[in-house]
Amino acid sequence: MSLVWGLSAVLLALTAVVDAQHNVTVEESDPTLLYTPSISAWYPSANPQKLTNGTLDGDYFHGGGYVAIGLPGATVSFTFNGSYIAYYSDQNNNHGSMTVALDSKTTTLSSYNADSVPQVKLFEAFVDPDVPNHTITLTCLEFKNIGLDYFLYTAAPGAVISSSNTESSSSPVPTQGPTSPRSTVTRTAPATVTIVAAILAAIGWTAAFVFAFLFLRLLKILTRISHQTESGESQIPGTCVFPPITASALSKRTIMQSPPAYSEDR
Ligand SMILES: *[C@@H]1O[C@H](CO)[C@@H](O)[C@H](O)[C@H]1NC(C)=O
Ligand SMILES: *[C@@H]1O[C@H](CO)[C@@H](O)[C@H](O)[C@H]1NC(C)=O
Ligand SMILES: *[C@@H]1O[C@H](CO)[C@@H](O)[C@H](O)[C@H]1NC(C)=O
Ligand SMILES: *[C@@H]1O[C@H](CO)[C@@H](O)[C@H](O)[C@H]1NC(C)=O
Repeated sequence: MSLVWGLSAVLLALTAVVDAQHNVTVEESDPTLLYTPSISAWYPSANPQKLTNGTLDGDYFHGGGYVAIGLPGATVSFTFNGSYIAYYSDQNNNHGSMTVALDSKTTTLSSYNADSVPQVKLFEAFVDPDVPNHTITLTCLEFKNIGLDYFLYTAAPGAVISSSNTESSSSPVPTQGPTSPRSTVTRTAPATVTIVAAILAAIGWTAAFVFAFLFLRLLKILTRISHQTESGESQIPGTCVFPPITASALSKRTIMQSPPAYSEDR
């Protein structure tokens, strides 16, 4: 059985590696975001939104709401430690051009679209996880809207998530209106790790079955010998019962933490 225990130890070690990586979503209301002018000057929108065909969409914006501004020079910045960043917002026919500056690299893009489309990944980039304090800055270029629904970043291994995804007594308490989480953490096993773990688990369970089978065969033979020596019988009554095995440890794991609710009203 030592082989099975050895494989279990390997699986535990792999789980630790999996835990080291996690994606964090940062809502537009997250207090770590720096808005210029301040967020109160940005135009807030909240779910539900009426679609062009008249139906109400309660999940139009991620996390309950979003903000927009149509003022050249207006900016919003977010600083993080990690390996990946993505910027999500809507596209619409009242939207215009903007720059997305990530550290020293600036990209120009437009979120204009003839039809409204929510939660579009407008920008994404990989960054060096060994360099701390990456900063992404969105800058409005026209008297046309830029929006911010949320950022998603992959946190550096072992990083302390400073964002408000833990309970805090100083968090604002919602009184009325829509609520939204300010950030959520999603942990997912990288594909290669999942495959390796699955293979090792398959080997582990096969070994366990073989051991159990051989053990029961041996037991049966020994019982037969003892019965034969005691009474001379050759037939053994009774059945062999294999223990049920549930292999759930390897399923893709997703943990969503629910932070304190937040009021969109201001
Ligand atoms: C309206 O449009 C949305 C998005 O295209 C669609 O999911 C929904 O089913 C539509 N509703 C009706 C009543 O056609
Ligand atoms: C990034 O990590 C450094 C330590 O390496 C820490 O000083 C800094 O506060 C972190 N930044 C953020 C935004 O969490
Ligand atoms: C990162 O930011 C934190 C908090 O603002 C600061 O204490 C730290 O010195 C910064 N680290 C670097 C390398 O700039
Ligand atoms: C984080 O999100 C990115 C983009 O959606 C995805 O490619 C990556 O696999 C995710 N990583 C983890 C650890 O969930």
